[in-house]
Amino acid sequence: MTTPSKMPAANGKICVAPSILSADLWRLGEEVKTVEQAGADWLHVDVMDGHFVPNLSFGPAVVSSLNGKTILPLDVHLMVEEPLLFIEPFAKAGADLLTVHIEAKDEIVTALEQIRRLGVKSGISIKPDTVPERIEPLLDLVDLVLVMSVYPGFGGQAFLPESEEQIKRVRGLIARSGRQIWLEVDGGINAQTAPLAIAAGADALVAGSAIFKAADPVLALKQIRQAAPDI
Ligand code: DX5
Ligand code: ZN
Repeated sequence: MTTPSKMPAANGKICVAPSILSADLWRLGEEVKTVEQAGADWLHVDVMDGHFVPNLSFGPAVVSSLNGKTILPLDVHLMVEEPLLFIEPFAKAGADLLTVHIEAKDEIVTALEQIRRLGVKSGISIKPDTVPERIEPLLDLVDLVLVMSVYPGFGGQAFLPESEEQIKRVRGLIARSGRQIWLEVDGGINAQTAPLAIAAGADALVAGSAIFKAADPVLALKQIRQAAPDI
């Protein structure tokens, strides 16, 4: 059984999604409560399989441990070669949004349809060197497009300047689709780069190290949020 997704449809608001990859896992519960109280919109959970990216991270048990403990929608980013193996376990664990990579090995239409059948919001992600137009035929099947602004695998990398062009092109594709689709940007987001991502068309910002490695995570989140003029 899966519960209905808590993730709203894109609504013109700018959302901030702290990534727990950079959290102090000894104090994960406290870290989540801190960003929740600081006004985070979603919680970003990075899933890595050691194949699609050269790193390992969280499995469904971690999502399950967060489910019901936080009011934040769980934004689960699957950096895995075979998403079809993992969609159902993460949906059952309580994911509100499941994002798969277009560069994954599995048939991506099947993956997106399966996510939706399970009552979860669906996302498609592109790496920095993937041509954005590849996502165009999939836009009817997604609620979010995730533009990677670093090569996936690790937190703490610098925002790639060429991401601005990727974001602009994806924003154009979303506008042409006429659908309400979030445009999330992930990698190297901080108070300096957030305005660039927003100006290029982003409306959801993932930030890991800029929030959790900051001396004052509440202030760091606020500064990223201030990058958006309307919030
Ligand atoms: C990287 C992950 C990101 C990561 C971002 O592969 O997808 O979500 O946590 O970390 P920062 O914000 O530190 O670049
Ligand atoms: Zn991520």
